[in-house]
Amino acid sequence: MAEGVFVHQFELGPWDNFMYLIGDRATRRCAVVDPAWDEQVILEEAQKLDVTITDVLCTHSHFDHVNRVDQLLKVVDAKVHMLRAEVDFADFKCENLQPASPGDVVKIGDHLEVTMLHTPGHTPGSASFRTADGLVTGDTLFVEGCGRCDFVGGDPEVMHRTLHDLVDRLPGATKVYPGHNYGSLPVSSLDHELEKNPYLKQPTLAAFVSHRMDGKTPGSSLPEPPPWPPAT
Ligand SMILES: [Fe+2]
Repeated sequence: MAEGVFVHQFELGPWDNFMYLIGDRATRRCAVVDPAWDEQVILEEAQKLDVTITDVLCTHSHFDHVNRVDQLLKVVDAKVHMLRAEVDFADFKCENLQPASPGDVVKIGDHLEVTMLHTPGHTPGSASFRTADGLVTGDTLFVEGCGRCDFVGGDPEVMHRTLHDLVDRLPGATKVYPGHNYGSLPVSSLDHELEKNPYLKQPTLAAFVSHRMDGKTPGSSLPEPPPWPPAT
């Protein structure tokens, strides 16, 4: 990460979600990305780092990325940022919600600026968060994978354009911080993805769509999550 800022990644929940605390070293202020599954764990991670959560950044509205937003807001005073297209798509509601537009910048502390990029395909209003040298990708781009496009609101043709826009426009050294731990590494780079990601290696749009939708039913619902934390 660029000087003066930090990225702390941790994995949580039954679906291998990655969450992030990204913030400013000087002021110890940070944002939490996609808080889900257990607010106590999230708060403990913030405590370990000695940081204060001032903002919540949501890549998209799916349950496994937002299911502890409400509980967290009972304990921390934070603004919640989600693209307006996603808020409208999901009729998403919570306290302190600030629907955002593509290109909006969220400033955290003195040194961290996060730009909200519109990266649709997994959902219509999915966002990726651009920092000085990294990209928090939610369920858009995974390490050696990409988000499913068969759920309600998903669109593989749109995903194809989104992925190619990202690799065409951003430097290859850009670090990729995915929304799930599905790849061989927890963090990669756009160069790594160009070399290894089978979805980026499909030669045509048609080949991409067929690879992404193989065995899937368009318009399907998210599965029911298993109980969390698991019964002991
Ligand atoms: Fe998702």
